[in-house]
Amino acid sequence: MTRHFLRDDDLSPAEQAEVLALAADLKRAPYADRSLAGPRTVAMIFDKQTLRTQASFAAGIAELGGFPMQVDGRLAGIGERESVADVARVLGRQASVVVWRTSGQERIEQLAAHAGVPVVNALTDDFHPCQLLADLQTVQEHLGRLAGVTVTFLGDGCSNMGHSWLLAGATAGMHVRIAAPGGFAPQADVVARAGEIAATTGGSVTLETDPGLAATGSDVLVTDTWVSMGREAESADRLAALAPYRLTEELVALGSTEAIAMHCLPAYRDKEIAAEVIDGPRSVVWDEAENRRHAQKAILAWLLREGGAAS
Ligand code: NVA
Repeated sequence: MTRHFLRDDDLSPAEQAEVLALAADLKRAPYADRSLAGPRTVAMIFDKQTLRTQASFAAGIAELGGFPMQVDGRLAGIGERESVADVARVLGRQASVVVWRTSGQERIEQLAAHAGVPVVNALTDDFHPCQLLADLQTVQEHLGRLAGVTVTFLGDGCSNMGHSWLLAGATAGMHVRIAAPGGFAPQADVVARAGEIAATTGGSVTLETDPGLAATGSDVLVTDTWVSMGREAESADRLAALAPYRLTEELVALGSTEAIAMHCLPAYRDKEIAAEVIDGPRSVVWDEAENRRHAQKAILAWLLREGGAAS
């Protein structure tokens, strides 16, 4: 059966641990895995802006021995010029894996249903699971563990990053707190799913509106832009509503003694994160950015092994 990575809970707790262990191995020995030797092609489609995702996938695919094929989503006009299903059928005949950054989650689900090869979510409006693999790898490196770690995500809880922290953190057995004002709480179905997973891993899920309470005792303090791609028209309202949730030095000081500060980037200094925090000693943002490559190589190699090897 072809496996896909469309949302964080596509990996069971044991599978997530396996992928993260492989990511750590590949960081130590970048050329040890040649799953894409041939070179086999990975199609990368971007409907939205990108820097880290494009660069880290391209570099990682090359390190696995493969060829990163760039597909400009605007030129392809997926769902407009031709249907998602037809694009899937065409790319599935050219590539061993398809990686897609797009808007609606239903679009990538449709692609996966018709591609015949593994499909990887490189960010949708609802989830950013590749970022979370890199982030969990980073937490593991800095704190030495995942299970039992408390993480607080501050800001737009109803975003791809808020949702992915809920699902991936719960899968890893973490205690996930989301600190967001009314109107920015995560989707109820994602919270419920994260709760279900946490009940099996020893983790937990908490929604909070008070940023200070949410940060107190936390080991990991995370934020993300207040204006995700596609939300630009709502900028003024978002900046006003989310201002109390800025990740400041005061909030970091409320965290545990070993607390680290995280941000998936791009960051807007002195909006969602204080410059002193992102540029300060607790920040691990550049490790997160680097780990995108290692974590994505691991998920590509794992998916090819689990069900895409014949392509
Ligand atoms: N939530 C952000 C993440 C950027 C990597 C966005 O969707 O724009």
